[in-house]
Amino acid sequence: MPRTKIALIGGGQVGGNIALLAAQKELGDIVIIDIPEAENFIKGKALDISQLLPHDGFDSKLVGSSDFQEIKDSDVVVITAGFPRQPGMNREDLLSKNLSIMTNVANQVKEHAPDAFVIVVSNPLDAMVYAFHKVSGFAKNKVVGMAGALDSARFRSFIAEETNLSSQDVTCMVLGGHGDTMVPVSRLANVGGVPLNALLSEEKISAIEERTRFGGGEIVKLFGKGSAFYAPAQSAVEMVESFVRDKKRVIPCASLCEGEFDINGYFIGVPTVIGSNGVEKILTFELNEEEKNALENTLSEVKKTVEETGL
Ligand code: 2OP
Repeated sequence: MPRTKIALIGGGQVGGNIALLAAQKELGDIVIIDIPEAENFIKGKALDISQLLPHDGFDSKLVGSSDFQEIKDSDVVVITAGFPRQPGMNREDLLSKNLSIMTNVANQVKEHAPDAFVIVVSNPLDAMVYAFHKVSGFAKNKVVGMAGALDSARFRSFIAEETNLSSQDVTCMVLGGHGDTMVPVSRLANVGGVPLNALLSEEKISAIEERTRFGGGEIVKLFGKGSAFYAPAQSAVEMVESFVRDKKRVIPCASLCEGEFDINGYFIGVPTVIGSNGVEKILTFELNEEEKNALENTLSEVKKTVEETGL
């Protein structure tokens, strides 16, 4: 059986770290695509990562190229191409610049890897994954956006820090758009099965929710240039792994809703089962009034950005 082929469109900080982490998990052979001006740089990255693999005893093959033909027949495509945020910008400010990049990428992926499972990471996430889906015409189970996995990981890490308990035992989810209106669902958060509200005061929980909503911005501010990459890369790799190994993990992802949570026709963060068929299922459950309102609010923000794409 041939190895899984993973194409990474964009070899910047997020793409490069996805290559590293995916290779270290031996998820498959990896092709990194970037613009011609960056071709030597990504060839160097691919070579550098290849040379650390002997330490792990793993056999992923890595290639860097600016030629989309190299992604031919990929099983998974992860798109990180596009401009990152700078201080003072929100993710939506990137729309016009990144939309033309996404349109081109969608056409190339459609031509060269028409059967791939595609994970979009570029921002503004909810609009970019919508754009990819529209332009490529891919089936809805083959297209998903990476956001909730990252936002939930941030939420988990802040809970672990505040409770001084292992992040491994923290379970929680963030629903909605990948913007400042995202919805951390604290009511369902727990540490080792113990509800969060038995461990922290309401004020502390609200502060963690707020920090989660602005978690990406906190890092943009600290960097002074560009946005986060380690945690975004690992979040995407978890999704790739669930697909490649048919793990059927439940990960909050931007999936196309057709009635789930009363949302129709938009990609937005919802609990998603990822397995060898891609997006296999969206899991739904009863929200309380406050959560419903918060989800409606985040949906209206997502709709605004999607409308601006004109697609
Ligand atoms: C973030 O939240 C890059 O959107 C990504 O850090």
